[in-house]
Amino acid sequence: MTEILKVEQLSEQIFRVRLDAPRIAKKRKAGQFVIIRVNADGERVPLTIANANASEGWIELIVQAVGPSTKELSLKKEGDSIADLAGPLGMPTEVGKVGRVLCIGGGVGVAPLYPIAAAFAEAGNEVISIIGARSQDILILEEEMKAISKELHVATDDGSSGFKGFVTDIFQKLIADGQHFDEAVVVGPPIMMKFTSKMTVAAGIKTVASLNPIMVDGTGMCGGCRVMVDGEAKFACVDGPEFDAAKVDWDGLLNRLSGYKKIAEAHHQCRVGLDE
Ligand code: FES
Repeated sequence: MTEILKVEQLSEQIFRVRLDAPRIAKKRKAGQFVIIRVNADGERVPLTIANANASEGWIELIVQAVGPSTKELSLKKEGDSIADLAGPLGMPTEVGKVGRVLCIGGGVGVAPLYPIAAAFAEAGNEVISIIGARSQDILILEEEMKAISKELHVATDDGSSGFKGFVTDIFQKLIADGQHFDEAVVVGPPIMMKFTSKMTVAAGIKTVASLNPIMVDGTGMCGGCRVMVDGEAKFACVDGPEFDAAKVDWDGLLNRLSGYKKIAEAHHQCRVGLDE
């Protein structure tokens, strides 16, 4: 059993859950995730560690309440518990001192992006961030991203916050303004990652995409996160979640996900990123 220390609602369907997890808080690195089970007989849900505090012994997860387990978790209160928690899992982000790092996040993808951006900032890089969402009410972690970024740009499809348009529009503007970037990190719905990374790669920027949003059970067994990278089959939960965006077969991934979405919905496992 793992104790819940705090549940905070960030938007209509998105919650931040703080768990008592001292060992994971100490060991975890940016880019890694945990698997939780809300009940002993419940489904396994992989979630990125969005934040952690090693001295206070907690980790934070951002949960979109879309399936039975995540909905149940969102209704928990301080002092309640979840059945189990495993982690940290996944390969940590390779964080070097590279110079100017562009961090682009879409929708709930800003949750896995935040710890990566924070690690780049901590390593002495200049972090420029672009975050986007359909509208302001589903824009998350704006304050947190602002705190670790030299510049934060916000885009919403409906113009309710920041620039009216897409993260790619802001990227084009930054390039047109003469900004240069040494590396880019992109996290969000697969379609957004496809188009965004196409642009950053075309601009000659080494780009890493986190395929965290396509994971289903996080165990390497369900096959839900299979993706072709440089002609080889990989699993986001075991070999990733981060890959060189230039080598990801985005069209193959999107095709498979559109078929998989129907199965996932039937199993009540529809997770963030499959439906956008
Ligand atoms: S999430 Fe199931 S195999 Fe990776």
